[in-house]
Amino acid sequence: MNWTKAERYRSLRDVSALEMEVLRTKTAASPWRFGYHIQPPTGLLNDPNGFTYYDGEYHLFYQWFPLGPVHGLKHWYHVSSTDLVHWTDRGVALVPETKEDSHGAYSGSGFVVDDTLHVMYTGNHRTDDWTRHASQIIGVLRDGMIERRNVAIPDIPAGYTEHFRDPKVWEVAGTFYAIVGAQRTDETGCVVLYRSTDLNEWTFLGEVKTELEQFGYMWECPDVFEINGQHVLIFSPQGIEASGHRYHNIYQSGYLTGHLDLNTNVFSHGTFEELDFGFDFYAPQTTEHNGRRILVGWMGLPEIEYPTDRYGWAHALTLPRELSLEDGMLKQRPVPEMKKLRQGEFVNETDTYLEIDTPERYELELSSTGEDFELELMKTGDESLVIRYEKEARELTIDRTNAGEPFATEFGTTRTKVIDVTSLHLFVDSSSVECFVNDGDAVATLRVFPSDNEKRIRYVGAEASLVGWKYE
Ligand code: FRU
Repeated sequence: MNWTKAERYRSLRDVSALEMEVLRTKTAASPWRFGYHIQPPTGLLNDPNGFTYYDGEYHLFYQWFPLGPVHGLKHWYHVSSTDLVHWTDRGVALVPETKEDSHGAYSGSGFVVDDTLHVMYTGNHRTDDWTRHASQIIGVLRDGMIERRNVAIPDIPAGYTEHFRDPKVWEVAGTFYAIVGAQRTDETGCVVLYRSTDLNEWTFLGEVKTELEQFGYMWECPDVFEINGQHVLIFSPQGIEASGHRYHNIYQSGYLTGHLDLNTNVFSHGTFEELDFGFDFYAPQTTEHNGRRILVGWMGLPEIEYPTDRYGWAHALTLPRELSLEDGMLKQRPVPEMKKLRQGEFVNETDTYLEIDTPERYELELSSTGEDFELELMKTGDESLVIRYEKEARELTIDRTNAGEPFATEFGTTRTKVIDVTSLHLFVDSSSVECFVNDGDAVATLRVFPSDNEKRIRYVGAEASLVGWKYE
């Protein structure tokens, strides 16, 4: 279906209950709906937004176009959780209805001031001749809805284009900072900083000075935080060429670690590292609570058609990951609360060969001696997702060439990471796999659309132990 502008830029306010019911029925009839991931009730989900711990719960929002699997008028949808694993559906929280966000309430972040959950997000406006104008808007959560408070940053500073969005706000001793994704007028990407003491007046502090002067044409969804005395800057650059085993997705997301000097804006840092070596990961956002830094990403990418599109919905969020910095490397581990979803073991064996039926959704831990192996997941008929480790080349390869309904094949059907592998920790949902390597050294996130619900795993290789738990 080709969506006209009028169809894309429709607000939920103009949609009848009956129309929503029809969309819900169509979505519910889809194969591949998730069991334990955050997914949209209808339509398209993209970036996680406003991730905040507030009033005893984690609050998480996401970019949502309710009416179909396209990037139309973006609303914010809201879910919350006390344990990062069981999520309560809180419905739509932000419906764009002002001039500034007439073409979408784009991504933004959450922060708590005076016992109130605040957000700062990007208002996306288009003029009649389709010229974009971005502004940064502050809102507060009241009775389940985000009410607009003020336009904090109405205009773009000189030297940058209207690709200026996704503010992440944090507080240092009563002073608020916002980092915003931007494009210079020479069409290179960067991030810029603002400061405020009252949330009304925001002072432009300039660009964060990194060593990545020419690194793509736009940096989206920045996030910055301190962990073990170091700063981590996460962002999603667009326009990076593939190089060796890196940067094979349409857009990337990764991080720099080092030190950000808020007086000079200089960020001294190491090399840019991808956060995830899978096929379907973008625009992550973090929050902190009780000293834990938790990251959630979008399990999808822009401008790619997915097989669920024909059922009227698309995408999900990744599982929450806990971050730590160890020996200068960012480690990402599934939050330990995931164990709450275990429903009993379906496998617990140590062998060189194994082939068994699996539940549709499960968690699996594989520990090996570091020798070669091949693990097939979601095996049905002659299709399967293959995870192969070759010790000599130190290559871990995820091969989705023959893993169900193909999509995005123009970006390749394998992903490889050079790493010594001794264990994998896998989370399989109806149409996704998240593969953690060696207790947090690397992660690969990907979608798979198997043609059947009956699935198996098959392991061949050096002796390994495989323990798996069924999930609802
Ligand atoms: C990233 C992004 C953001 C933007 C949002 C719009 O996927 O393009 O930069 O705010 O999506 O939905």
